[in-house]
Amino acid sequence: MNNYSNLLTELHPDGILVVTVNRPAQLNALNINTLNELSAVVAESQHTQAVKALLLTGAGPKSFIAGADINEFLTLSPAESRQFAERGQEVLFQLEHSAKPVVAAINGFALGGGCEVAMACHLRVASEEARLGQPEVKLGIIPGYGGTQRLTKLVGKGKALEMMLTGNPITAAEAYRIGLVNYVQPAEQLLEFSLGLIRQMIDKAPIALAKVIEAVNASLALDEVAGYAAEATAFEACCQSNDFQEGARAFVEKRRPAFTGS
Ligand code: COA
Repeated sequence: MNNYSNLLTELHPDGILVVTVNRPAQLNALNINTLNELSAVVAESQHTQAVKALLLTGAGPKSFIAGADINEFLTLSPAESRQFAERGQEVLFQLEHSAKPVVAAINGFALGGGCEVAMACHLRVASEEARLGQPEVKLGIIPGYGGTQRLTKLVGKGKALEMMLTGNPITAAEAYRIGLVNYVQPAEQLLEFSLGLIRQMIDKAPIALAKVIEAVNASLALDEVAGYAAEATAFEACCQSNDFQEGARAFVEKRRPAFTGS
């Protein structure tokens, strides 16, 4: 496998590629470089015959991915903010349409873009300490990497709206209860359990696995283009608001935001 600056990759002899997002000092926040590397590793895995499936996790004990890197999208123009959302949507679409199964091992915070990445994976296993959420409204924006679409499909409109309107994260147990994750495991068993789950897939016929993924994705594809376009338009509008500048700056300055509705 290629070398990546923000991802660790380890190909196990049985064909499981473990990909670890490795920016622990920033709680594995997804900057553009990391997003591009995620795209590259998914592409590489598709044409590397030795890779049968992927396991995606985050470095360190605390976080899977704590969202998009807030420092990077503070000063985006309207066109740039739309491109920002569309690039994230594109990479997560690529992940979701991987012909090889992808399992997220959620080892801690999966917030914002981190929850969106986890939802783009085919299955999710959470550690008991994990917290999942879409806190974007606290910053004055909305999920822009497909969260409005995938969360609604995974947990239904009511719970999706509650999570996205309050911005409150939920526990792993609650995520399991509402169907957002497939399993919850003690932290120390998370990786081994996730690898075991993947082993139950990779002894099956590769073409059949790819076709299950393709057909299940197709079942949800109706209205997808319009839904994602609506999300990107709404994200672009939020990025131009004073409240987003205030919300994101308040996070960076470690204070409470004062929103004005402008
Ligand atoms: N983007 C950029 N930096 C981030 C980040 C993000 N999404 N999430 C965390 N970090 C950075 C913090 O700024 C901090 O950096 P510093 O040590 O240089 O100050 C470091 O990661 C540790 O985070 P900190 O906030 O000190 O940890 P905590 O345990 O007090 O809180 C969280 C953890 C996850 C609750 C908190 O970091 C948080 O709310 N992050 C933002 C989540 C979010 O809104 N994501 C959606 C973005 S669209």
